[in-house]
Amino acid sequence: MTQQNTKTLTIIQPDDFHLHLRDGKVLQSTVTQAARQFRRAIIMPNLKPPITTTKHATEYRKRILAQLPSNTDFQPLMTLYLTDNTPPEEIVRAKESGIVHGIKLYPAGATTNSDAGVTSLSNCIKTLDEMQKQGIPLLMHGEVTDPDVDIFDREAVFIDKVLIPLRKMLPDLKVVFEHITTKAAAEYVTDAEGFIGATVTPQHLLFNRNHLLVGGIHPHYYCLPILKREENRQALLKAVTQNNRRFFAGTDSAPHAKGAKENACGCAGCYSASHAIELYATVFEQQNALEHLEWFTAINGPKFYNLAVNRTTITLEKRDWQIPESLPFGSDKVIPLMAGENLTWKLV
Ligand code: NCD
Ligand code: ZN
Repeated sequence: MTQQNTKTLTIIQPDDFHLHLRDGKVLQSTVTQAARQFRRAIIMPNLKPPITTTKHATEYRKRILAQLPSNTDFQPLMTLYLTDNTPPEEIVRAKESGIVHGIKLYPAGATTNSDAGVTSLSNCIKTLDEMQKQGIPLLMHGEVTDPDVDIFDREAVFIDKVLIPLRKMLPDLKVVFEHITTKAAAEYVTDAEGFIGATVTPQHLLFNRNHLLVGGIHPHYYCLPILKREENRQALLKAVTQNNRRFFAGTDSAPHAKGAKENACGCAGCYSASHAIELYATVFEQQNALEHLEWFTAINGPKFYNLAVNRTTITLEKRDWQIPESLPFGSDKVIPLMAGENLTWKLV
Protein backbone atom coordinates (compact mmCIF):
# COMPACT_ATOMS: atom_id res chain seq x y z
CA MET A 1 0.00 0.00 0.00
CA THR A 2 1.28 3.47 -0.83
CA GLN A 3 -0.18 6.28 1.13
CA GLN A 4 1.15 9.21 -0.83
CA ASN A 5 -0.36 11.70 1.57
CA THR A 6 -3.49 12.02 3.63
CA LYS A 7 -5.53 12.86 0.55
CA THR A 8 -5.06 9.77 -1.61
CA LEU A 9 -4.59 6.08 -1.08
CA THR A 10 -3.28 3.72 -3.76
CA ILE A 11 -3.79 -0.02 -3.31
CA ILE A 12 -3.69 -3.18 -5.42
CA GLN A 13 -6.92 -3.46 -7.37
CA PRO A 14 -9.47 -5.34 -5.24
CA ASP A 15 -11.45 -8.46 -6.08
CA ASP A 16 -14.93 -9.28 -4.83
CA PHE A 17 -15.19 -12.85 -3.55
CA HIS A 18 -19.01 -12.90 -3.41
CA LEU A 19 -21.07 -11.05 -6.00
CA HIS A 20 -24.55 -11.43 -7.49
CA LEU A 21 -24.79 -10.08 -11.05
CA ARG A 22 -28.19 -11.62 -11.92
CA ASP A 23 -28.98 -12.22 -15.60
CA GLY A 24 -30.90 -10.88 -18.59
CA LYS A 25 -31.49 -7.18 -19.12
CA VAL A 26 -30.06 -6.08 -15.77
CA LEU A 27 -26.64 -7.60 -16.57
CA GLN A 28 -25.54 -4.55 -18.49
CA SER A 29 -25.78 -2.28 -15.45
CA THR A 30 -24.63 -4.79 -12.83
CA VAL A 31 -21.56 -5.80 -14.85
CA THR A 32 -20.61 -2.22 -15.75
CA GLN A 33 -20.83 -1.08 -12.14
CA ALA A 34 -18.92 -4.04 -10.70
CA ALA A 35 -16.20 -3.77 -13.34
CA ARG A 36 -15.46 -0.19 -12.28
CA GLN A 37 -14.62 -1.37 -8.78
CA PHE A 38 -13.14 -4.83 -9.11
CA ARG A 39 -10.70 -6.69 -11.29
CA ARG A 40 -12.29 -10.10 -10.59
CA ALA A 41 -15.34 -11.40 -8.80
CA ILE A 42 -16.69 -14.74 -7.65
CA ILE A 43 -20.10 -14.86 -9.32
CA MET A 44 -22.97 -16.38 -7.38
CA PRO A 45 -25.00 -19.06 -9.18
CA ASN A 46 -28.45 -18.49 -7.62
CA LEU A 47 -30.21 -17.59 -10.85
CA LYS A 48 -33.66 -18.89 -11.75
CA PRO A 49 -33.02 -21.69 -12.62
CA PRO A 50 -29.70 -21.96 -10.77
CA ILE A 51 -26.35 -22.56 -12.46
CA THR A 52 -25.80 -26.21 -11.60
CA THR A 53 -23.49 -27.38 -14.40
CA THR A 54 -20.20 -26.32 -15.93
CA LYS A 55 -22.01 -26.00 -19.26
CA HIS A 56 -24.43 -23.45 -17.80
CA ALA A 57 -21.61 -21.62 -16.03
CA THR A 58 -19.73 -21.36 -19.33
CA GLU A 59 -22.78 -19.86 -21.05
CA TYR A 60 -23.50 -17.49 -18.16
CA ARG A 61 -19.87 -16.34 -18.20
CA LYS A 62 -20.19 -15.49 -21.90
CA ARG A 63 -23.32 -13.43 -21.23
CA ILE A 64 -21.41 -11.52 -18.54
CA LEU A 65 -18.36 -10.92 -20.75
CA ALA A 66 -20.63 -9.68 -23.57
CA GLN A 67 -21.69 -6.79 -21.30
CA LEU A 68 -18.19 -5.65 -20.41
CA PRO A 69 -17.26 -2.13 -21.40
CA SER A 70 -14.26 -2.23 -23.78
CA ASN A 71 -11.90 -0.43 -21.37
CA THR A 72 -11.93 -3.09 -18.63
CA ASP A 73 -10.52 -6.55 -18.18
CA PHE A 74 -12.91 -7.62 -15.44
CA GLN A 75 -12.90 -11.39 -14.97
CA PRO A 76 -15.92 -13.30 -13.72
CA LEU A 77 -14.89 -16.33 -11.64
CA MET A 78 -17.76 -18.75 -11.92
CA THR A 79 -19.36 -21.03 -9.32
CA LEU A 80 -21.80 -23.92 -9.43
CA TYR A 81 -24.88 -24.29 -7.27
CA LEU A 82 -24.71 -27.52 -5.27
CA THR A 83 -27.89 -29.62 -5.22
CA ASP A 84 -28.76 -32.95 -3.63
CA ASN A 85 -28.12 -34.45 -7.08
CA THR A 86 -24.85 -32.82 -8.21
CA PRO A 87 -22.77 -35.81 -9.38
CA PRO A 88 -19.04 -36.10 -8.56
CA GLU A 89 -18.34 -36.09 -12.32
CA GLU A 90 -19.64 -32.52 -12.48
CA ILE A 91 -16.85 -31.52 -10.10
CA VAL A 92 -14.30 -33.10 -12.42
CA ARG A 93 -15.77 -31.17 -15.37
CA ALA A 94 -15.78 -27.97 -13.30
CA LYS A 95 -12.12 -28.35 -12.43
CA GLU A 96 -11.12 -29.18 -16.02
CA SER A 97 -12.98 -26.12 -17.36
CA GLY A 98 -10.63 -23.74 -15.57
CA ILE A 99 -13.50 -21.24 -15.24
CA VAL A 100 -15.24 -22.64 -12.15
CA HIS A 101 -13.62 -21.56 -8.87
CA GLY A 102 -16.05 -22.79 -6.22
CA ILE A 103 -19.19 -24.76 -5.48
CA LYS A 104 -21.89 -22.92 -3.57
CA LEU A 105 -23.91 -24.47 -0.80
CA TYR A 106 -27.32 -22.95 -0.18
CA PRO A 107 -29.20 -24.89 2.45
CA ALA A 108 -32.64 -25.30 0.81
CA GLY A 109 -34.82 -22.30 1.65
CA ALA A 110 -32.07 -20.29 3.37
CA THR A 111 -32.22 -17.23 1.13
CA THR A 112 -33.16 -15.72 -2.25
CA ASN A 113 -33.53 -18.41 -4.98
CA SER A 114 -32.41 -21.28 -2.79
CA ASP A 115 -35.36 -23.65 -3.29
CA ALA A 116 -33.18 -26.06 -5.28
CA GLY A 117 -30.53 -26.01 -2.56
CA VAL A 118 -29.22 -28.90 -0.51
CA THR A 119 -31.73 -30.53 1.88
CA SER A 120 -29.01 -32.46 3.72
CA LEU A 121 -25.28 -32.55 3.19
CA SER A 122 -25.43 -36.30 3.71
CA ASN A 123 -26.86 -36.44 0.16
CA CYS A 124 -23.66 -34.88 -1.20
CA ILE A 125 -20.84 -36.80 0.46
CA LYS A 126 -19.38 -38.28 -2.73
CA THR A 127 -19.50 -34.93 -4.46
CA LEU A 128 -17.91 -33.14 -1.50
CA ASP A 129 -15.23 -35.82 -1.41
CA GLU A 130 -14.48 -35.14 -5.09
CA MET A 131 -14.21 -31.41 -4.30
CA GLN A 132 -11.73 -32.20 -1.58
CA LYS A 133 -9.71 -34.27 -4.09
CA GLN A 134 -9.86 -31.58 -6.79
CA GLY A 135 -9.12 -28.75 -4.37
CA ILE A 136 -12.28 -26.83 -5.31
CA PRO A 137 -13.60 -24.77 -2.39
CA LEU A 138 -17.07 -25.14 -0.91
CA LEU A 139 -18.63 -21.71 -0.48
CA MET A 140 -21.16 -21.94 2.31
CA HIS A 141 -24.22 -19.88 3.01
CA GLY A 142 -23.79 -20.66 6.69
CA GLU A 143 -27.28 -20.67 8.14
CA VAL A 144 -29.55 -23.52 9.21
CA THR A 145 -33.11 -23.38 7.90
CA ASP A 146 -34.85 -25.25 10.71
CA PRO A 147 -38.05 -23.24 11.36
CA ASP A 148 -37.52 -23.73 15.10
CA VAL A 149 -34.23 -21.83 15.06
CA ASP A 150 -34.54 -18.06 15.52
CA ILE A 151 -33.37 -16.09 12.49
CA PHE A 152 -30.74 -14.28 14.60
CA ASP A 153 -29.27 -17.61 15.76
CA ARG A 154 -29.15 -19.47 12.46
CA GLU A 155 -25.49 -18.80 11.71
CA ALA A 156 -24.21 -19.79 15.14
CA VAL A 157 -26.28 -22.99 15.09
CA PHE A 158 -24.92 -23.79 11.61
CA ILE A 159 -21.37 -23.84 12.99
CA ASP A 160 -22.17 -26.57 15.50
CA LYS A 161 -24.72 -28.54 13.52
CA VAL A 162 -23.22 -28.45 10.02
CA LEU A 163 -19.80 -26.86 9.71
CA ILE A 164 -17.90 -28.63 12.49
CA PRO A 165 -19.21 -32.15 11.65
CA LEU A 166 -18.56 -31.59 7.92
CA ARG A 167 -14.99 -30.45 8.50
CA LYS A 168 -14.36 -33.37 10.81
CA MET A 169 -15.47 -35.73 8.04
CA LEU A 170 -13.60 -33.93 5.22
CA PRO A 171 -10.67 -32.18 6.95
CA ASP A 172 -8.92 -31.22 3.70
CA LEU A 173 -11.97 -29.67 2.03
CA LYS A 174 -11.35 -25.97 1.39
CA VAL A 175 -14.22 -24.02 2.90
CA VAL A 176 -15.28 -20.39 2.63
CA PHE A 177 -17.70 -19.34 5.33
CA GLU A 178 -19.56 -16.72 3.31
CA HIS A 179 -20.75 -13.31 4.55
CA ILE A 180 -20.16 -14.01 8.24
CA THR A 181 -22.19 -11.90 10.65
CA THR A 182 -21.51 -13.14 14.17
CA LYS A 183 -18.87 -13.19 16.87
CA ALA A 184 -19.25 -16.99 16.88
CA ALA A 185 -18.33 -17.20 13.19
CA ALA A 186 -15.45 -14.73 13.45
CA GLU A 187 -13.99 -16.66 16.39
CA TYR A 188 -14.53 -20.04 14.74
CA VAL A 189 -12.71 -18.95 11.58
CA THR A 190 -9.91 -17.32 13.57
CA ASP A 191 -9.24 -20.42 15.66
CA ALA A 192 -10.18 -23.35 13.42
CA GLU A 193 -7.66 -25.85 12.12
CA GLY A 194 -7.15 -26.36 8.41
CA PHE A 195 -8.12 -24.58 5.25
CA ILE A 196 -10.89 -22.11 5.95
CA GLY A 197 -11.57 -18.54 4.92
CA ALA A 198 -14.43 -16.12 5.40
CA THR A 199 -15.89 -13.25 3.43
CA VAL A 200 -17.26 -10.16 5.16
CA THR A 201 -19.66 -7.67 3.55
CA PRO A 202 -19.61 -3.88 3.91
CA GLN A 203 -23.09 -3.84 5.48
CA HIS A 204 -22.17 -6.25 8.27
CA LEU A 205 -19.10 -4.14 9.08
CA LEU A 206 -21.01 -0.85 9.02
CA PHE A 207 -24.41 -1.63 10.54
CA ASN A 208 -26.20 -3.55 13.26
CA ARG A 209 -29.84 -4.60 13.50
CA ASN A 210 -30.93 -1.22 14.86
CA HIS A 211 -30.25 0.23 11.42
CA LEU A 212 -32.76 -2.21 10.00
CA LEU A 213 -35.47 -1.94 12.63
CA VAL A 214 -35.36 1.27 14.71
CA GLY A 215 -37.71 4.08 13.69
CA GLY A 216 -39.48 1.91 11.13
CA ILE A 217 -38.46 -0.98 8.91
CA HIS A 218 -35.67 -0.04 6.52
CA PRO A 219 -35.93 -2.60 3.74
CA HIS A 220 -32.70 -1.61 2.02
CA TYR A 221 -30.81 -2.84 5.09
CA TYR A 222 -32.48 -6.24 4.92
CA CYS A 223 -30.18 -8.98 3.73
CA LEU A 224 -29.42 -12.55 4.69
CA PRO A 225 -27.81 -13.41 6.96
CA ILE A 226 -29.70 -10.63 8.73
CA LEU A 227 -27.84 -7.79 10.47
CA LYS A 228 -27.03 -8.72 14.07
CA ARG A 229 -26.37 -7.05 17.44
CA GLU A 230 -23.58 -4.49 17.81
CA GLU A 231 -21.31 -6.91 19.72
CA ASN A 232 -21.24 -9.09 16.60
CA ARG A 233 -20.33 -6.16 14.38
CA GLN A 234 -17.50 -5.34 16.77
CA ALA A 235 -16.21 -8.91 16.49
CA LEU A 236 -16.22 -8.68 12.68
CA LEU A 237 -14.32 -5.38 12.82
CA LYS A 238 -11.74 -6.99 15.06
CA ALA A 239 -11.44 -9.99 12.72
CA VAL A 240 -10.78 -7.94 9.58
CA THR A 241 -8.29 -5.57 11.22
CA GLN A 242 -6.25 -8.10 13.22
CA ASN A 243 -3.85 -9.08 10.44
CA ASN A 244 -5.49 -12.46 9.95
CA ARG A 245 -5.19 -13.66 6.35
CA ARG A 246 -8.33 -15.80 6.52
CA PHE A 247 -10.71 -12.85 6.15
CA PHE A 248 -11.36 -11.19 2.80
CA ALA A 249 -13.81 -8.98 0.95
CA GLY A 250 -16.99 -10.43 -0.47
CA THR A 251 -19.61 -7.76 -0.90
CA ASP A 252 -22.64 -10.05 -1.31
CA SER A 253 -23.92 -7.19 -3.43
CA ALA A 254 -27.36 -8.59 -4.28
CA PRO A 255 -29.53 -6.20 -6.29
CA HIS A 256 -33.30 -6.37 -6.30
CA ALA A 257 -35.55 -3.88 -8.10
CA LYS A 258 -36.79 -1.07 -5.83
CA GLY A 259 -40.34 -2.41 -5.79
CA ALA A 260 -39.23 -5.90 -4.78
CA LYS A 261 -37.48 -4.43 -1.70
CA GLU A 262 -40.12 -1.85 -0.73
CA ASN A 263 -42.81 -4.47 -0.51
CA ALA A 264 -45.05 -6.28 2.00
CA CYS A 265 -42.72 -9.25 1.54
CA GLY A 266 -39.47 -7.52 0.62
CA CYS A 267 -36.56 -9.45 -0.87
CA ALA A 268 -33.27 -9.94 1.00
CA GLY A 269 -30.15 -8.32 -0.43
CA CYS A 270 -28.20 -5.04 -0.28
CA TYR A 271 -26.75 -3.47 -3.41
CA SER A 272 -23.18 -2.25 -2.88
CA ALA A 273 -21.20 -3.20 -5.99
CA SER A 274 -21.24 0.39 -7.27
CA HIS A 275 -19.35 1.79 -4.25
CA ALA A 276 -18.06 -1.19 -2.27
CA ILE A 277 -14.43 -0.08 -2.12
CA GLU A 278 -15.43 3.28 -0.75
CA LEU A 279 -17.62 1.55 1.86
CA TYR A 280 -14.79 -0.74 2.93
CA ALA A 281 -12.33 2.20 3.03
CA THR A 282 -14.75 4.05 5.31
CA VAL A 283 -14.86 1.06 7.67
CA PHE A 284 -11.09 0.65 7.84
CA GLU A 285 -10.54 4.36 8.34
CA GLN A 286 -13.08 4.44 11.17
CA GLN A 287 -11.04 1.65 12.80
CA ASN A 288 -7.76 3.49 12.22
CA ALA A 289 -6.71 0.46 10.22
CA LEU A 290 -6.33 1.68 6.64
CA GLU A 291 -3.08 -0.29 6.43
CA HIS A 292 -5.15 -3.51 6.44
CA LEU A 293 -7.51 -2.47 3.63
CA GLU A 294 -5.30 -3.79 0.86
CA TRP A 295 -4.81 -7.18 2.53
CA PHE A 296 -8.52 -7.57 3.08
CA THR A 297 -9.69 -6.43 -0.36
CA ALA A 298 -6.85 -7.48 -2.68
CA ILE A 299 -4.42 -10.02 -1.18
CA ASN A 300 -6.02 -12.47 1.27
CA GLY A 301 -8.75 -13.60 -1.15
CA PRO A 302 -6.51 -14.37 -4.15
CA LYS A 303 -4.09 -16.22 -1.86
CA PHE A 304 -6.92 -18.36 -0.51
CA TYR A 305 -8.21 -19.12 -4.02
CA ASN A 306 -4.72 -19.76 -5.42
CA LEU A 307 -4.93 -16.82 -7.80
CA ALA A 308 -2.20 -14.34 -8.60
CA VAL A 309 -2.59 -11.02 -6.81
CA ASN A 310 -3.60 -8.31 -9.30
CA ARG A 311 -0.87 -6.17 -10.82
CA THR A 312 -3.14 -3.18 -11.40
CA THR A 313 -3.78 -0.58 -8.72
CA ILE A 314 -6.61 1.77 -7.84
CA THR A 315 -6.48 5.14 -6.14
CA LEU A 316 -8.95 6.45 -3.63
CA GLU A 317 -9.20 10.14 -2.93
CA LYS A 318 -10.28 11.67 0.36
CA ARG A 319 -13.28 13.79 -0.54
CA ASP A 320 -16.96 14.02 0.31
CA TRP A 321 -19.41 12.69 -2.22
CA GLN A 322 -23.00 11.58 -2.14
CA ILE A 323 -24.10 8.05 -2.95
CA PRO A 324 -26.84 8.28 -5.62
CA GLU A 325 -30.47 7.92 -4.50
CA SER A 326 -30.93 5.21 -7.11
CA LEU A 327 -29.12 3.50 -9.98
CA PRO A 328 -30.30 1.95 -13.25
CA PHE A 329 -31.21 -1.75 -13.08
CA GLY A 330 -32.35 -2.87 -16.52
CA SER A 331 -35.57 -0.93 -17.16
CA ASP A 332 -36.00 -0.61 -13.39
CA LYS A 333 -34.12 1.01 -10.49
CA VAL A 334 -32.04 -0.34 -7.65
CA ILE A 335 -31.46 1.54 -4.39
CA PRO A 336 -27.80 1.35 -3.41
CA LEU A 337 -26.68 0.73 0.17
CA MET A 338 -26.65 4.09 2.04
CA ALA A 339 -28.45 5.81 -0.83
CA GLY A 340 -28.26 9.61 -0.57
CA GLU A 341 -25.70 9.52 2.26
CA ASN A 342 -22.19 10.92 2.16
CA LEU A 343 -18.94 8.99 2.04
CA THR A 344 -15.49 10.48 2.55
CA TRP A 345 -13.46 8.28 0.16
CA LYS A 346 -14.00 8.26 -3.60
CA LEU A 347 -12.51 5.92 -6.19
CA VAL A 348 -10.62 8.02 -8.74
C1 NCD B 1 -28.83 -12.84 -1.86
C2 NCD B 1 -29.61 -12.65 -3.16
O1 NCD B 1 -30.47 -11.76 -3.22
O2 NCD B 1 -29.34 -13.37 -4.12
N1 NCD B 1 -29.49 -12.12 -0.81
C3 NCD B 1 -28.94 -11.71 0.35
O3 NCD B 1 -29.66 -11.19 1.20
N2 NCD B 1 -27.66 -11.82 0.59
C4 NCD B 1 -28.67 -14.29 -1.57
C5 NCD B 1 -27.63 -14.58 -0.52
O4 NCD B 1 -26.44 -14.43 -0.77
O5 NCD B 1 -27.99 -15.00 0.58
ZN1 ZN C 1 -24.95 -13.76 -1.63
